[in-house]
Amino acid sequence: MDISIRAHQAPASPIRRLIPFAEEAAKKGKKIYYLNIGQPDIPTPSVYFEYAEAYKPKVVAYTHSAGLLELREAFTRYYERFGVRVSSSEIIVTNGGSEAVLFAMAVVADPGDEILVLEPFYANYAGFAAQLGIKLVPVRTYPEDGYAVPEKRAFIEKIGPRTKAIIFSNPCNPTGAVYDEKQLETIADVALEKDLCIISDEVYREFTFDGYKALSMMTFDKVINRTIVVDSISKRYSACGARIGTFLTKNREFYQASLKFAQARLCPSMTSQYATIGLLGLDDNYTEQIKREYEQRRDAVYEELKKIDGAVFKKPHGAFYVSVKLPIDNAETFVKFMLSEFEVDGKTTMVAPLDGFYATPNAGLNEIRIAYVLDQDKLRDAVRILALGLKAYSEKR
Ligand SMILES: Cc1ncc(COP(=O)(O)O)c(C=O)c1O
Repeated sequence: MDISIRAHQAPASPIRRLIPFAEEAAKKGKKIYYLNIGQPDIPTPSVYFEYAEAYKPKVVAYTHSAGLLELREAFTRYYERFGVRVSSSEIIVTNGGSEAVLFAMAVVADPGDEILVLEPFYANYAGFAAQLGIKLVPVRTYPEDGYAVPEKRAFIEKIGPRTKAIIFSNPCNPTGAVYDEKQLETIADVALEKDLCIISDEVYREFTFDGYKALSMMTFDKVINRTIVVDSISKRYSACGARIGTFLTKNREFYQASLKFAQARLCPSMTSQYATIGLLGLDDNYTEQIKREYEQRRDAVYEELKKIDGAVFKKPHGAFYVSVKLPIDNAETFVKFMLSEFEVDGKTTMVAPLDGFYATPNAGLNEIRIAYVLDQDKLRDAVRILALGLKAYSEKR
């Protein structure tokens, strides 16, 4: 008996695949700075727990497959703050942004179809595409120009008869790029000209620095009917384990199709949905404060990275990641070395190799992604250890 071709072909998460090496190192007593995964250390606001505790239904029941109406209404008020006007019947509450990505891809493309993706991209897009038998076709972005959206031409030359959509995250995981209006217009124009759908992943919406702003694709009227927005509370409220996201669309056909997928999985956690209503009541002061914290962390990482000879990177303007090209042969081997063979005072640093964030074969082999999800002192120490590890690794080769 064999497993399916799809199961064979599904990629392991580049963020999680080296965890066994970290577990082994931790077992030996090594302290590890985990900069490989976007799991913030910021406490989840207490209102989440207060709402969860206050919620005492007789039965923890299934909710509507689109999510609790009260929660969807709270989301509509939240989106209004960003100029996004959606009604509760244009929102499906999902099990994290992850499920919204899965639904969006499944709604717009069939097995064998293609979806263009700005590369490097959030690695799990490849996992979802593999589950659905969809081919991700990369449209490359480059560190030299801050991973900006390329010219229209770069998209057009990748479009074939089976291309159905364009997917990207803005602010971008893993590059930290924030696309400006002109760049988003390019995507909108390509979608219009080539009759494509747009899947805009906006889970890092609030995390923008240096005056940059992440515009929602839902504010571009000309593509409003061909757009699906993916969203999540995971990062915004440091509530990754709450597993609450949203699928937004004004397109009724997309919505109804996605609702069928939602019905098949019944509903997201009732308690978590209720507690999220509390989170959505937090005002801009909360997000401003978190944003400042990430900006300071970004600056700390940036300053320490600048001290590394041969490291190529640009200051990221959003999300909480930075992609860095290192003077090494292979980032995965380097990460394994950091975990298995290197330590400074019993400590080491774990980052994610960037190759899994590319669909282009052999791309990103000497690049890493750093998630700046720890406090500034820890981050500085972690990057210093990374720099020392880099030296030791290079001397060994
Ligand atoms: C760009 C992007 N989209 C979606 C997700 C999925 O997040 P979740 O399923 O926790 O909402 C992540 C998580 O890291 C992400 O970085």
